[in-house]
Amino acid sequence: MTVHEIQEEILRLKKEKDICILAHAYQKQSILEIADYTGDSYGLSVQAAKTSNQGVIMCGVRFMAETCKILSPDKKVWLANPMAGCPMAEQLGLDDLKALKAQYPGYDTVAYINTTSELKTGCDVCVTSASAVKICAALDTDKILFIPDPNLGHYVASKLPQKQFAFFDGGCPRHKVAVRDDVILAKERHPGALLLVHPECRPQVTDLADYVGSTTGIMDYVRKSDNHDFIIGTENSIVEHLQFEYPQRRFYPLSSALSCMDMQLTTLMDVYNCLKGAGGEEIILPDNVMEGAGKCIRKMVELGG
Ligand code: 13P
Ligand code: SF4
Repeated sequence: MTVHEIQEEILRLKKEKDICILAHAYQKQSILEIADYTGDSYGLSVQAAKTSNQGVIMCGVRFMAETCKILSPDKKVWLANPMAGCPMAEQLGLDDLKALKAQYPGYDTVAYINTTSELKTGCDVCVTSASAVKICAALDTDKILFIPDPNLGHYVASKLPQKQFAFFDGGCPRHKVAVRDDVILAKERHPGALLLVHPECRPQVTDLADYVGSTTGIMDYVRKSDNHDFIIGTENSIVEHLQFEYPQRRFYPLSSALSCMDMQLTTLMDVYNCLKGAGGEEIILPDNVMEGAGKCIRKMVELGG
C-alpha cells in the first residue's frame, strides 16, 4: 500500500468507527495530514475535553494520552504507539515528590503536564508550556514549587518576579542539548534570522531568543511575522513542518541534536493498526489516579481557558 492509500483507509476507518485522531505538532507530516486536530499540549488537552467522538487515538507520548483519558473518562482513548513515553515525565516519582514537598512547606506544587498521571495526584495544578505563565500568575499563592522542568520554571519565574519559585533539577533531555554556542554559530551562519525557541531550552538559550513559546506559539509567531529566515529551537520536526507551510521562507534547526526519538516513534501504520484493533494501547487508569490527577488537570483547563 502507498502512503496515500493508507491515509485514505485511515480516514475511512475513523469515520466508520467514530474515532477522533489527535496529533501533537511534533508528529510526522503523514500523521498530521490525517489528524482531526494538531497542536501543542495545551491545545490537545482542550480538544480532548471538547471532542464528541466515541473514541480518541493520541499520536504523541503517553502523558498526552493519559491527559486525554482523564478529561474524557467515558471515551475509549488509545496511545497509537505504546512505546512512546516522555523521559522527562519519568524523572520524578510520587515518593520523591513527597520528600521534595517536605523541603518547601507552604508552597503550591505546580506540575508541568509532562509528568505521569500518578505524580499529578500529588500536585495542586498542572500547566503546559503555553499556559504556565498565565496559570502561575492566577494562583492565589506567592510560593510555587515548579516540577520537573527548571528551564520552563525559570522562564515562568522571570515573567513573575513578584512570586517566589523553587525547582527540581530535571528537564527535557532533548531541549537541554542546545547551548549558547549553538545560538552564536546559528546566528553567524544565518544573519537576519529570528531565533524562536521552546521554554524547555536552557536560560542561556532563551535569554538570546527573539521569541520563547510553545510549539503552537512558535508556529503562530512565524504566521504573523514578515521575516524571511528563522532559527528554530525546538524538536526538529517543526523545522520541516514550517518549511512545508512556507516554502518561500527559510527555517534552520538551532541544533541538529534537537530531536525527540519518543515523539518520532509513532508511524502512520501504528495509527492504521490501532484503528483495525491490531495495535496501540487502550489507556486505563486506576480510579484514584483518574480522580487525583483529574483535579490537577481540570484546574489547569479552568485557569488557562
Ligand atoms: P508543547 O507544550 O509545546 O506542546 O511541548 C510539549 C513537549 O513535549 C515539548 O517538548
Ligand atoms: Fe518529553 Fe522532551 Fe520529548 Fe517533549 S521533547 S516529549 S519534553 S523528551
